Amino acid sequence: MNAKIVVIKGDGIGPETVSEAMRALAVIGKRFGHTFHLQEYEAGGCAIDHSGSCLPDDTLAACLVADCVLFGAVGGPKWDSLPQHLVPERALLTMRDKMGLYANLRPIKMFPQLYHASPLLPQVAAQGIDLMLVRELTGGIYFGSHDIVLRGGQSVASDLMSYSESEIERIARTAFEMAKKRHGRVVSVDKSDVLSCSRLWKEVVHRIARDEYPSIQLTDMLADSIAMQLMRNPWQFDVVLTENMLGDVLSGEACMLTGSIGMIPSASLGDGTVGIYEPIHGSAPDIADQNIANPIGAILSIAMMLRSSFGLLSEAEAIETGVNRVLDDGYRTVDIMSAGCVPVSCSKMGELIAGAILSSQMYRKIARTLPQPSVQGSKKSKKAADFF
Ligand code: IPM
Ligand code: MG
Repeated sequence: MNAKIVVIKGDGIGPETVSEAMRALAVIGKRFGHTFHLQEYEAGGCAIDHSGSCLPDDTLAACLVADCVLFGAVGGPKWDSLPQHLVPERALLTMRDKMGLYANLRPIKMFPQLYHASPLLPQVAAQGIDLMLVRELTGGIYFGSHDIVLRGGQSVASDLMSYSESEIERIARTAFEMAKKRHGRVVSVDKSDVLSCSRLWKEVVHRIARDEYPSIQLTDMLADSIAMQLMRNPWQFDVVLTENMLGDVLSGEACMLTGSIGMIPSASLGDGTVGIYEPIHGSAPDIADQNIANPIGAILSIAMMLRSSFGLLSEAEAIETGVNRVLDDGYRTVDIMSAGCVPVSCSKMGELIAGAILSSQMYRKIARTLPQPSVQGSKKSKKAADFF
């Protein structure tokens, strides 16, 4: 394994959490004998400050020839007032588009050790959450024309949402393939009571299911209905398939239910093995540069990378086992802190997980320098493997 990985730390907490993901990747290389060639590039607000563009040409060029990209987060209040086509978030949209990454996978899984950190009622949270959100990523309203024009003496804004059959077919296949590897159930989200895009979405998803995946159980759910069902009983879902904007919104809701947005990784994939791997947490400028962010979503994004881009299954499992061990032992960043646990910084959490990945001896050496938890995570994990 001799992989070329582009690293884009970006803005806000991106640099802090991605540094811990890089630490995890380095120990995987050490333990399993792989060489990962990491090249850092800029994108987002920091790139605007340094070069005037949110996605400099050399960054995009490097992404287009890389085996995969590790991405932190972009954006912040400093750049919010720029014209729409210049904002930091454009970088990510352009990368997804140019790299042909139309499928965004967001594994929304609650670690059992964290169920009391969930905002859900305890009896709801205790049932667990384990769903894979499959979000269409390069179509829909995010990629239609965006306009603000003067009409009748006032500004009028419009954003065009459109979907072609082929765009829907390929993301539907991604979701059905995912369901085949999981529990065989797909909930397809739409707003077909209002939108034409959703009517076509529903029709195409059903055709693909009928013609190509007869054994998958397909259910439709309106977007407003799933927003409620996610609160009521999130454990009912296996694979959730959505178009671009609804997926953005619903994944924000769903991942918060697991305890913290900082826990969730993601993969953006196309037809091949190249992908962008990024935590879902966003740039979180309010907590940037304080070493308090949760790096677990970024670290788990490495597990997704190892599995999806490189087929390194044991290595991916080693990361997930490491995360589990640290949570089992009661170490928590502030966003997932609870009584009896030991608060740790972003970098200490990364160090503990890296230690746990490398060896028990190394892990114990780091843990010995920290206070001991008075009660351990209330519910330990049964099995670490196959987490995502
Ligand atoms: C996400 C983010 C992005 C999106 C932004 C940063 C463009 O919110 O990945 O969820 O809207 O897709
Ligand atoms: Mg989002």
